[in-house]
Formats: sequence, C-alpha cells, structure tokens
Amino acid sequence: MSRIDSDKLKTFLSRPRTLKEIAEHFGAKNLSPEQIRKVALPDRHALFEQQNDLGEPLFMTAEQPLPLRTVKPRIWAYRWAPRPQPYLWVQFQPHFKHPRIKLVGLSDMHYGAKSHAYDRFRRYVKWIAENDDVFAFLNGDTIENAIDGSIGGAVYESLLTPSEQIWGAPDKGEPGMIELLRPIAHKILWAQPGNHEWRTWKKTNLDPLRIICYELGIPYSDEPIFADVLAWGHRFTFYCQHGRTGSQTKGGKMNAAGRPAEFQESVDFIIMGHVHDSMGNPITRFVRRREFDGEGKLAGFWIEERAQYIVICPSFYSYFGSYGSRAGYSPGSWGTIVCTLFNDGTYRASE
Ligand SMILES: [Fe+2]
Repeated sequence: MSRIDSDKLKTFLSRPRTLKEIAEHFGAKNLSPEQIRKVALPDRHALFEQQNDLGEPLFMTAEQPLPLRTVKPRIWAYRWAPRPQPYLWVQFQPHFKHPRIKLVGLSDMHYGAKSHAYDRFRRYVKWIAENDDVFAFLNGDTIENAIDGSIGGAVYESLLTPSEQIWGAPDKGEPGMIELLRPIAHKILWAQPGNHEWRTWKKTNLDPLRIICYELGIPYSDEPIFADVLAWGHRFTFYCQHGRTGSQTKGGKMNAAGRPAEFQESVDFIIMGHVHDSMGNPITRFVRRREFDGEGKLAGFWIEERAQYIVICPSFYSYFGSYGSRAGYSPGSWGTIVCTLFNDGTYRASE
C-alpha cells in the first residue's frame, strides 16, 4: 500500500468513514485497521475508532483541546499567616530590579453584565501585562454572577451566565474570566470576592471567585485582606475590603472606606470597592517609633508622621442601561487608582 498522507487522512476523516471508503479514497488495496492506526496524525489530532450498525469499524479524527495553559512564573513569593487570619505577606524577590511597584486595584468589573466596561477592562489588563513594574489585586465583584433572586432583575441584564463568566462561552465568542486574567495572573498579588460572588456562596457554600483563583494560583481570601508588600527591604501595609455600604454621597462613601482605620494600627493603604467611585485621600497618622542600639539599649524615640491613603477603587461598569441609572444614582468613576510603592520606602495613591 502506498503511504497515506497524514494531513489528507486527517481531513478525510473529519467525519466517520468505513475502511472501504478510506481504501477507495486513497487507492489503497487490502487496507487494514492497523495501517490506519499507524498513521502519525498532525499535532493535537486523535484517531477515534467507532462501529456502524453492522459492526464494521468506522474511523474519524478530532482535534484535541490545547494542553492546560499555565500561568507565567511570579517574581514574588507569598505566605499566609496561620488560618483563619487573612494576613498575607507578599515578598518581591531580589532579582526584581525596578525602582517602583505600581499596584492596581481591579474592582467591580461585573464581568458578564451588559454594563461591564469591556474595552476599558481589556485595556487595563493589557497595560498590566505589558509593564514589568505593574501588578494588581482583585477587590470583588469580579464577575456579575446574577442568579435567581438577585435584586433589580439583574439576571435579565446579563450577557453571560455565571458559568460562562468563569469558563467562557465559545458559541458567543466570549472568553471567561479565567482566560481574561491568565496573561496577568502571575501579577495578581491577592483576591477577594464581593457581594456579587457572595450570592452563590450564601446559597451553595461555593464562591465562583475561588474557582478562578484556584485555576490561576492567585492568593485568595473570602475576608478582607491584611497584606504586607515587602520589597527592597521596606514594608508597605494594606488593608483591603470589598465594602458593603449603601452610601451614595462622597462623604458617606469616604466614611465607610476609612472606618477600618478605627480598629487597627496605622496601615499605608486602606482600600475599598463596591461603591463604583474613585478616591485616593491621604491623611496623616502619628506612629510611635523607638530605636535600640546593638545591645538592646534605647537609643531614641520619636513620633513619625506617616501618610495613610484611604482609597476607593473605581469600577469597570458603565452607567446608562444599568440599575444605577434607573435608580437615579450618581454615575460612578471608571478605571482604577494606582498605589505606587518606591524603592526609598515612600508610597502614594494616584488616579
Ligand atoms: Fe459590590
């Protein structure tokens, strides 16, 4: 028998064929099933052997999915305090040579909702992916996750179902959040859910964001996160919550965002999302400092003025056509706020 071209065989077997049909097509007399099995098919194509109603062999080829794609290597390491404390250390490795880290809160994307700001979100993901000193964290309501009973008839305002929001909808040509975040997953330092993910947890004990984070290896907490970012020998401290206030005024939102300052020591950034607004106010906190010499004797003490940024992360959610517009809420701010950490130990929040 003359050699069967593997490419042509792959194409010919894109639908089931009998041995006789294959032999006729390729002009191969006395063709045996064994000869077909031996043909090396092109990459990612597999041979299937079925039977027709007469019990005769049927051959077909099918393309196989890509191997599970992985996440790029991280330039930072992480460690959680013993659970249940949601206290996280993120240590940038010594070979991280940039003089600054830009840390971007990705909050309230509501992916899958009609009002999700698709282009803007993708631009941010691209910017994070392309810049070595830009990193991110997920601050809740990453997916819309409108389910039975969600307020405002939200299920009627979703373009994707909750499953599609996670894993994608090939028939609609839309990726899931896993694939959207995969190019930057190695730069997402931590993640927590918002009230939208929590809807599923309340009914089923499953948080869809946890599935996304598990797939991408992103540090996840279902509670507000106390994080220390450790870089260049400095420590930058964060408290991040999604937030749950219903405040509509700037003052009310700011009060809600700053409230966690009441129950913890001074941290550099106190972060909240949820209200689809954008603020980055610095306040001054006085911190007691003491210095000891090599023998443990007190060498000096003083009060340090330390800036504390109360940050509200904006959303990736448009206004018109949404429940916010119908309810007469003020339109939110879009995009994100950047927390910049410098190698001299200083830091700031900016739009
Ligand atoms: Fe929210």
